Amino acid sequence: MIDEVYTPLDPAPELEPERQFFFIKKMQEIVFAKEQEYGRKLTYHISTFGCQMNFKDSEKLAGVLEEIGFAEADDEKADFCLYNTCTVRENANSRVYGRLGYLGKLKSRKPEMIIAMCGCMMQEEHVVETIKKSYRFVDIIFGTHNIYKLAELLFEYYRQNRDIPDIRKAVSQNDNNINDNITVKKKPVKKHKMVVDILKGTDKIVEELPSKLKASFKAGINIMFGCNNFCTYCIVPYVRGRERSRKPEDIINEIKDFVSKGVIEVMLLGQNVNSYGKNLENPISFAELLRQVDEIEGLKRIRFMTSHPKDLSDELIEVMKNAKHVCHHIHLPVQSGSSRLLKKMNRVYSKEDYLKLIDKIRAAIPDIAITTDIIVGFPGETEEDFEETLDVVRYSKYASAFTFIYSKRTGTPAASFPDQVDEKTIKDRFDRLLKEVNTCSEEYAMSLEGKVMPVLVEERDRGENPDGTGNAVKSNCPEDNYLTGRLDNNLLVHFKGSNDLIGQIINVKLSECKGFYYFGDIV
Ligand code: 5AD
Ligand code: SF4
Repeated sequence: MIDEVYTPLDPAPELEPERQFFFIKKMQEIVFAKEQEYGRKLTYHISTFGCQMNFKDSEKLAGVLEEIGFAEADDEKADFCLYNTCTVRENANSRVYGRLGYLGKLKSRKPEMIIAMCGCMMQEEHVVETIKKSYRFVDIIFGTHNIYKLAELLFEYYRQNRDIPDIRKAVSQNDNNINDNITVKKKPVKKHKMVVDILKGTDKIVEELPSKLKASFKAGINIMFGCNNFCTYCIVPYVRGRERSRKPEDIINEIKDFVSKGVIEVMLLGQNVNSYGKNLENPISFAELLRQVDEIEGLKRIRFMTSHPKDLSDELIEVMKNAKHVCHHIHLPVQSGSSRLLKKMNRVYSKEDYLKLIDKIRAAIPDIAITTDIIVGFPGETEEDFEETLDVVRYSKYASAFTFIYSKRTGTPAASFPDQVDEKTIKDRFDRLLKEVNTCSEEYAMSLEGKVMPVLVEERDRGENPDGTGNAVKSNCPEDNYLTGRLDNNLLVHFKGSNDLIGQIINVKLSECKGFYYFGDIV
């Protein structure tokens, strides 16, 4: 489509990432012309919902927007507002629709504003239909498989809806530079056209586009995309597609590049990191990748998530045990303690398999912190099934656990399972589970009281400042001169200190245990 407009003067390259660099350049010219018109920089704001993958995607989207020339705004009163959505549970969807109403009001006062939606929710047909019907003010919709196309989609949006500066003249006069004399041609106002670009799937991985880190000292690194496991409750394989692994050399080079810019901690990201590398032309195990990452000079901490218990190898445990920089923390979602339910969930392990795995990991790495995800109220869950889950929690001595109420996702097998559990029973079990989990995590945290441990200082305590999604983040701290950091085992520690410590690893005494976090003192 876009090629038709610019052929033959300046055809867009077909290959990625060159194609996107072409559109980044086009957008730079448009944004520059708009800056001249407004007499100020254009701004963007991204609200991110959901998991680490989405937060990583948002860093990539921010990288492209900054390359184009947008500056980050603190809130949604920006020229370009993007919602990166999650659909793993229903409440994530509801929050997005709620926020969209607010954005609509903002836009009615500021019609020049561009509103875009992307992420997992957009991979669901019914969501896109709802937005097209009831939220007509949304300008651009794209999914999880084409986030690399942001510049192209923005350009397409401008081409269809807005005044585009006389780019051809500018480009033909000086191919490399942005021309100071670009003027905005006034065109008659056209009917607003939404740009919608959703791919059902992809085997493409686009490397080398810009990305903007939220913190200068730590980075998430995608090692693979998608999931092949089809747990019966989960929508991820439908919205994120089949597993695709990045080549180890691309991953290593990206990390080395980050380290050269000051990054000391990386988190290797994948829905199931343990099946990394299986489908590569030259297959390689996750354990081997981790070993290679551990060799990178200058890197101080390596984390990874998520591990599926069915694929966690002895080789990985061995590498974790012997590595110099791999954190002694593993996130190992159990989902349920009932072998009967695990089968219905298609998790491919039993309660006994899981507990044996826990034993094996602890025997090899005694100080390991194990965390998990648990779902309450999966269809058909009986009191006995639930008791099995409580039993696993007690046995596994989790350092912490994310607990979720089962959420029916349209299109997943479990949505049509009989015996959906009633709300009251779920609520009761959820409360009981939370109590058990809190007891475990307090016990774990208490076992460290008085120790001096290395902490990566991450930020000044955020107090009541809003996070990216517009929610208030409540502070744990009594005053506002506290820093927040993380131990190797992922536990949070707050302590007094100056901003210049942010990004460094320092020794902190764990003075006062507050359940799932600590107050500490720098030693
Ligand atoms: N309902 C509740 N929790 C879910 N999860 C995934 N799908 C659902 C669902 N339909 C949880 C799982 C997973 C975590 C990321 O989200 O526990 O590990
Ligand atoms: Fe969802 Fe299961 Fe894949 Fe995790 S492993 S993303 S729970 S399907």
